[in-house]
This record gives sequence, C-alpha cells and structure tokens, in this order.
Amino acid sequence: MSSTIEFDEAAARVLEAAYLTTDVVEQRCAVLRSLGLEPGQHVLDIGCGPGLLVRDLAGSVGEGGRGCGLDLSDAMLGMARRRCADQAWVSFDQGDAMKLPYEDAAFDAVVSTQVYEYVADIPGALAEIRRVLRPGGRVAILDTDYGSLVVHTDDEPRLARILDAWDEHFVHRDLPRFLGPALREAGFRLRQRSAIPMFNPEYQPNAFSFHLTMFIAGFSGGRRDATQEDAQGWLAELQDLGRQGRYFFSLNRYLFVADRG
Ligand SMILES: C[S@@+](CC[C@H](N)C(=O)[O-])C[C@H]1O[C@@H](n2cnc3c(N)ncnc32)[C@H](O)[C@@H]1O
Repeated sequence: MSSTIEFDEAAARVLEAAYLTTDVVEQRCAVLRSLGLEPGQHVLDIGCGPGLLVRDLAGSVGEGGRGCGLDLSDAMLGMARRRCADQAWVSFDQGDAMKLPYEDAAFDAVVSTQVYEYVADIPGALAEIRRVLRPGGRVAILDTDYGSLVVHTDDEPRLARILDAWDEHFVHRDLPRFLGPALREAGFRLRQRSAIPMFNPEYQPNAFSFHLTMFIAGFSGGRRDATQEDAQGWLAELQDLGRQGRYFFSLNRYLFVADRG
C-alpha cells in the first residue's frame, strides 16, 4: 500500500469537487488578490492540479501575458489542459517542484497551493522558485496545518486512529509553522501572512469538509490501526451529527506572500 496519495483520475475528480466548493473558491480569490497581477505579466502555478487557479491567473494577466501550470500528475494535467483550452496564452508542463523546467527570472509571480506539504526539501524547492522569479517578483504559497483541525466526534479513539493513518500521506503535516522563516532564509521579503479557515459548522454536501472527510476516510480505512469499519462508521457519524445539528468542522490553511529580494 502506497504511503502517499496517488493523484490519479479518481483522486483528481474528488479533489476537483472539493475545490469547486465556496470555501475553496474564496481561498482562490484571496490568493489571486495577494499576487496583485497586472495585464501582460508571466505567472507560474506549481502543482497546479485541475487548473482552477491557472484559469483565474490567466484571466488576470490576459492574452498579452503568460500563464504556466506545472504538475507531476498526468491525470491532473489532462483536467487542467481541458479547463484552459480556450486560453491560448496558457501552457502546462509535467515536472517536479524540485527542478522547475523554466529559465532563470522567467516569471513575475509564482504561486503554489497545497503542494509543499508533499515536498521533502523545502529550502531546495524555495531556491528553485527564487531562481525562476525576476528580481522583485512575488511568490504566494498556501498550505494546511493539520494541527489546527477540530472535528466534533462522540468516538475520539476512532477519530484518532483515522487521523493517525491520514498523517502517513504528508511529508509535512504542519508546514505553515516554519514556512515564514524558510522564506526569509531563502532570500524573500515577507509581505503577508494570513489564516484562511475552512469552517463548516453544518453538514452540507456543497461544503469543503464533506469532500475532505470522504477523502480522508478513503485513504485511512485499512491503514495503520484504522479499519474500513472505522472509516465508514466515522462518515456515518458525521452525517448523524449533521442531522442532529451537532456537526462541527474547522481547519486552517495559511497563505504566505513574499517578494524576491
Ligand atoms: C492537493 S493537490 C493541489 C492542487 C492545486 N494546487 C490546488 O490547490 O487546487 C496537490 C497537487 O500537487 C501535485 N504535486 C505533488 N508533489 C509535486 C511535486 N513535487 N512537483 C509538482 N507537483 C506536485 C500533485 O500531483 C497534485 O496535483
């Protein structure tokens, strides 16, 4: 059993549904605002996934600009290419955040959301971003700190087993805690640090937590001490809590924006 998430067709569809929820649409708006893009600029999204943010970035820089998306996964790139097919100034490349296939100082802005939790060598990855940014260019990185997760349950031991298994899929479960210093050490000037809460106090199929908890259950069931029954029982409990008006889910993502010194 792989200890990482396979970003295949099935995962791409589940993630796309989560990323189309209002919670994540608002997050994308905050990320876009933080970059302060202007028409004609060149922008790169590292680990672009299904291409939702690339589409927005490309809209901001316009057809006189350049929008690039990079990802390791074929399935994600397929979805992203289809999404941006009518934007001729957008291109996608398969590649690794550790070795960006772009020239030095090629971009005015670089962005990456929910990717560096999977990347072991953060100083190496930030050095690559710095290399492809022009002097004064801007980077925005957003990631989750799973230490901020609050989910109501009447069965704490079962939830602990499920989350312990979920932890297996990250390299970093708490990257935001050290991202600020890492950016400074890599030669960036920090401009903004913001918390972006994914707060769902109701059980709703169109909310972020509905999709994330299904994804967590799918990954964790049958892994470490979490059984398939644990995973299915937890999902059923969340639904019951929703019916009873006792559902509560909160998880913070953190946005760091910095300029290349
Ligand atoms: C959780 S998804 C986030 C997708 C997108 N950034 C978003 O927020 O909508 C993580 C994405 O990062 C990609 N990824 C993971 N490690 C990577 C690496 N080392 N280099 C490039 N892409 C990577 C995965 O294939 C996947 O598409």
